[in-house]
Amino acid sequence: MTPSYGLQGKAAVVTGGTRGIGRAVAGALAAAGARVCVTARDPDAVRRAAAELGGIGLAGSVADPGHPEELTDLVLREFGRLDVLVNNAATNRPYGPLMEAPDTDWREAFAVNVQAPLRLVQCAWHGWMREHGGAVVNVCTEGAEHVGPRVGAYGTTKAALLHLTRQLAGELAPRVRVNSVSPGLVRTEMARFVWEPGEAEAAAELPLGRIGEPEDVARAVLWLASDAAEWVTGADLLVDGGTRVRAASGADGTVLRARLRGVPEV
Ligand SMILES: NC(=O)c1ccc[n+]([C@@H]2O[C@H](COP(=O)([O-])OP(=O)(O)OC[C@H]3O[C@@H](n4cnc5c(N)ncnc54)[C@H](OP(=O)(O)O)[C@@H]3O)[C@@H](O)[C@H]2O)c1
Repeated sequence: MTPSYGLQGKAAVVTGGTRGIGRAVAGALAAAGARVCVTARDPDAVRRAAAELGGIGLAGSVADPGHPEELTDLVLREFGRLDVLVNNAATNRPYGPLMEAPDTDWREAFAVNVQAPLRLVQCAWHGWMREHGGAVVNVCTEGAEHVGPRVGAYGTTKAALLHLTRQLAGELAPRVRVNSVSPGLVRTEMARFVWEPGEAEAAAELPLGRIGEPEDVARAVLWLASDAAEWVTGADLLVDGGTRVRAASGADGTVLRARLRGVPEV
C-alpha cells in the first residue's frame, strides 16, 4: 500500500509522465491521493495516462515556448492549486563525442533538461508556491558527477540540473523545498540500449544485483515530495542499486561503459 505522506488532495505535475520513471512517479502520487497532471509530446499517450490516473494531461514538449505557462494555468484552473512539481522529462541526445555535437542538438538538450525545469519552477512559484509552499523534485542521473563515453551532452545538462536544484533550494526556502533523485540504470525506453543487450551482465555490475525498476525511483520521488521529507532540501537522493560504490564490491563498470561506447551516433 502506498503511504499518503500528507499528499492526499494535493496537486502534482509530472513532466514526461506517460511512461518509464515519470509514469511510475505519477502512479505513486495518485495512489497517495494527489491529483496528477502529466505531460509528454505524444498526445495519445498523454490522454491514456491521464485517464488511467484519473487526472489530467497536457501534450507538448517542455521546451515549447509557452508550454510551462500553459501547464501551470491548466493545473491551477482544474485543481485550484499546485503543490508538487516533478521535473522528469529529459533527452539523452546528442550522443557522441562533444567535438561532433551539433549546435542545435546541444541547445535542445539544455532547453529540455535545464531551461524547462527552471521555467516550470518559475511558473509554479509565481502561480502558487510562493504564497502556499510546495515541493519540487528534479530527476537527474547517477552519471551527473562523473564522465562517460558519448554521453557528454547529457551528463553536462544533468550536472547543471543538479546545481540548479541546490541553487533553487537555497533561494526558495523556507516556502518551497527543492531536491533531486539520481537514478542508476533503470528498465525504461531511454536506457533500453544499455540494459537490453544482456541484462544479467549489467545486473552483475551492480552491488544490489539487479537493474532498477521505475517504481524504485518513484518511491524516492514520492518521499521527497511528501511531508515526510519536510526538513530536507537541496539534497540529491541516489537510487542506483549501489553503482557509486561498486568498486568496493569488485565490479568496475566495464560492461556498461562498453555498451555506451557501442551506441551509434545519431
Ligand atoms: N532510465 C534510466 O536508466 C535513467 C537513468 C538516470 C536518469 N534517468 C532520468 O529519468 C528521467 C525519465 O527517464 P526514463 O528513463 O523514464 O525515460 P523514458 O522511458 O524514455 O520516458 C521519458 C518520458 O518523457 C517524455 N518526454 C521526452 N521528451 C520530452 C519533452 N521534450 N517534453 C515533454 N515530455 C518529454 C516521454 O514522452 P514523449 O516521448 O511522448 O514526449 C516519456 O513520457 C529522465 O530525466 C532521465 O534522464 C533515467
